[in-house]
Amino acid sequence: MRIAYTSDLHVDISQRNWELIPYLAEILKMIDPDVFIIAGDVSPEIGDLEYTLECFAGLQCPKLFVPGNQDIWVLSEEMQEGGHDSYEKYYFYLPDACRHNQFVPLWMEPMIVGGVGFVGSIGWYDHAGPSAVPSAFSRAHHYLLDSVWNDMRWACWSDISMMMEGTLWPVRRPDVEVAREFNLRLDQDIDGFEREPLVSEIVVVTHYPPFSELSVEGAPFPGSRDTSGILFAHDKVTVSISGHIHDKRDLLVRDIRAVRCPVGYLGGEQRKYQDMVKDCLEIIHLIDRDDFLPEGSP
Ligand SMILES: [Fe+2]
Ligand SMILES: [Fe+2]
Repeated sequence: MRIAYTSDLHVDISQRNWELIPYLAEILKMIDPDVFIIAGDVSPEIGDLEYTLECFAGLQCPKLFVPGNQDIWVLSEEMQEGGHDSYEKYYFYLPDACRHNQFVPLWMEPMIVGGVGFVGSIGWYDHAGPSAVPSAFSRAHHYLLDSVWNDMRWACWSDISMMMEGTLWPVRRPDVEVAREFNLRLDQDIDGFEREPLVSEIVVVTHYPPFSELSVEGAPFPGSRDTSGILFAHDKVTVSISGHIHDKRDLLVRDIRAVRCPVGYLGGEQRKYQDMVKDCLEIIHLIDRDDFLPEGSP
């Protein structure tokens, strides 16, 4: 089984990001993978997400999406005060946009393809926030600081239990609680496939990295440490695909292959789109029954 994956398309960030998508779709058609995965951060605008997913309409394989932090931003204080929040996007608008465009909203609908279970979640982080960031943080990764600051402003996980007379909207849930909630759901979904005899291995897709080994040196780990425990606790989990940090990774953490292949911010890129695409898309090959010749063949 050939799984193509990418993340962090950020089509709203620059013209080059926007224009790359059709090239990405063309290359994918030629590769013709068995599964295609986008591990989050397309755009805070639902219309941009719809456009992007639609670009992959010519791809016939199962297409899976998991949102990133920028996809759940509510980019207006007025909207937030009016009661619109990230939960609304996460559980309603984003799944809708996926289904309109023949993408599976993986965080809502775990999926089995040819004996492989696919499970997804945005993930979230439970670190101390921007105050923990050392000032000597590498320039190449400054977007991570922007992301933390922007999450504080635009990621709006409302606490409905705090809604009471006289309280101004929105009352936000602390990141630690949000991380715990998404970890719980991820654990349940993985557990379901761990017990499912039809599933021989599990691929976990999260936007935030599940392992500190995927982190950037000098920056706080932008994920939840509990997520790695959940992955380690299930023997069938063999692959982790994530995003958020804009550099490519392919490493082994215990027995789990942890990969990431983001597009990132392309504003300063001078290369041709055809050349850029090669760095924004990867294939992982899982060995399955179809890879072996049938018994008795020469
Ligand atoms: Fe990103
Ligand atoms: Fe992100």
